Amino acid sequence: MCGIVGYIGKKNALPIIINGLKRLEYRGYDSAGVTILNNKNQLLTFKRAGKVADLEKNINKDIFSGDTGIGHTRWATHGEPSDINAHPHYSSDDSIILVHNGIIENYKFLKNNLIKENYKFATETDTEVLVNLIHFNYANTKNFEKAVQISLTAVEGTYGIACMCKYEPDKIIAARKGSPLLIGVGIEEILVASDPSAVLNYTKKVIYLEDGEMAVVTKSGYGLKTIEDIQVLREAEELDLLQGEIEKGGYDHFMLKEICEQSETIQNTYRGRINFDTGVAKLGGLENVLEKMLKARRFIITACGTAWHAGLVGEHMIEQYCRIPVEVEYASEFRYRRPIIYPDDIIIVISQSGETADTLAALREAKKHGATTIGIVNVIGSTIAREVEAGTYIHAGPEIGVASTKAFTSQLMSLVLITLMLAKEKNVKLQDSLLSLAEELKRLPGKIQKMVDKREEYKKVAEKFKDSKNFLYLGRGYNFPVALEGALKLKEISYIHAEGYPAAEMKHGPIALIDKNMPIVIIAPLDRTYDKIISNIEEVKARKGIVIALANDEDENIKNYADYILRVPKTLALFAPIINVIPLQFLSYYIAAIRGCDVDQPRNLAKSVTVE
Ligand code: G6P
Repeated sequence: MCGIVGYIGKKNALPIIINGLKRLEYRGYDSAGVTILNNKNQLLTFKRAGKVADLEKNINKDIFSGDTGIGHTRWATHGEPSDINAHPHYSSDDSIILVHNGIIENYKFLKNNLIKENYKFATETDTEVLVNLIHFNYANTKNFEKAVQISLTAVEGTYGIACMCKYEPDKIIAARKGSPLLIGVGIEEILVASDPSAVLNYTKKVIYLEDGEMAVVTKSGYGLKTIEDIQVLREAEELDLLQGEIEKGGYDHFMLKEICEQSETIQNTYRGRINFDTGVAKLGGLENVLEKMLKARRFIITACGTAWHAGLVGEHMIEQYCRIPVEVEYASEFRYRRPIIYPDDIIIVISQSGETADTLAALREAKKHGATTIGIVNVIGSTIAREVEAGTYIHAGPEIGVASTKAFTSQLMSLVLITLMLAKEKNVKLQDSLLSLAEELKRLPGKIQKMVDKREEYKKVAEKFKDSKNFLYLGRGYNFPVALEGALKLKEISYIHAEGYPAAEMKHGPIALIDKNMPIVIIAPLDRTYDKIISNIEEVKARKGIVIALANDEDENIKNYADYILRVPKTLALFAPIINVIPLQFLSYYIAAIRGCDVDQPRNLAKSVTVE
């Protein structure tokens, strides 16, 4: 969690660091701070609770002027969001300055040892323990690099850090274990960041640090080594990412932009991976494990949040079309319950960021048991992408809105491609032929665009429910995970309580909640569950609930039952979740926007949860 930016070069560091922090705010944004090395070789720190914009407004730009510095935007783990708990943190004598992502698990042990050495602590954070530990080791070694190295070998837990030292002020030391960190190599300047979006304005050349590595960055260059002091030689790689891709492009919010982009992003997911004349899908990144996939005892899909919902849809797809047993697990639960994993299991991890701590830990657990691991990931070069045995990138582009939208539909599209690839090899008799599926796939972007173009219709429905307190979302089969995702989107950004349920389960509990104030979104496409869904709608109507039906364009009958209708084009079952989730994304977006909520940065959430 949290974001780190550091700069060393010839320019004024503060605006560059602030700019980078703004780009990283989606990782955490409850407090922010910077340390700048001024022209008198003093390290000056300014930090406060609140967003980066508050920091920018309140900092004295004349005083905080210099060509080297580090900054941080925080999402609290240890200690509440406050001025004092914000990063950078400094050692008791202010000589060592540190910004840190991650959690030091043995910080209490380390703190007690330091207290015995007469160290005093001003905050409750684990970071302050680490900075004092570095200070302690500096006092013994008088060598900043060595002090960092020795300290990190004593640390249990995760970290991405950048730090500076009053006595060696012309360098930034960065290190990583479990929290992403990279250095951006520009002309006569070097940046340190937890995410490439923070360096993209200045350079496209980056070096990702691996776990257990550190970088010593000065004006004249950088050196890489492991914390065990072994030199590392790695060339910078060229980022294939445009700054424009991560800007709002005229939309009010990133989330709206990302919802509206989906006709394009799903094409980016399947481009070059399907033969439209035969319906055969080919995923280059999975070729080396295809045999194993075909022989597997079962698949286990593991993920968190929205990616977990995609996994639930994947279970339906793969079981139905490929007849391979699939289990879907919350990564956070999976890793802790001594899961039974066989070497001939296939573990599929789904993650937009590729950095979610629980998902990463589940992946590592699976590897320990010798299972084959596959990633479905968006962020290129992310930790999960690098640690899986094989994988496929979803190519949805940077997703900035905290509530995941386009990554979800691209995750679903990747699962469609995997399904098509395996179905062909398994020779399963399909309800829809591969060719008809491929033909429908070609029509999908047009159908999505049609929904995007008529989003005002969805907005009109949203306007009616801006003051609702609760929502129920119901769906059957493939559309049950879509109901879960619709409910999650609403609660994430509008803070309205919402629950997703399998439609038929409603009568075993949620039906008790229904009264004339309760809106119920029911996903009711014209498929083989239609009649059953209509019965569920009747059960709701009998209790005076307000029915918002998500129904196909050609369904006239639904008007007899629904109070409001979200119209969607008809498609084949395999693609229905991709189509059906889009009006639900719009519904939650507009409800939140009308309520005046901070759509892109909802309270308490973060885009990438790199702590347990
Ligand atoms: C956070 C985000 C969610 C996301 C989940 C998993 O909770 O707010 O939008 O679905 O993490 O993230 P991942 O990057 O692994 O898909």
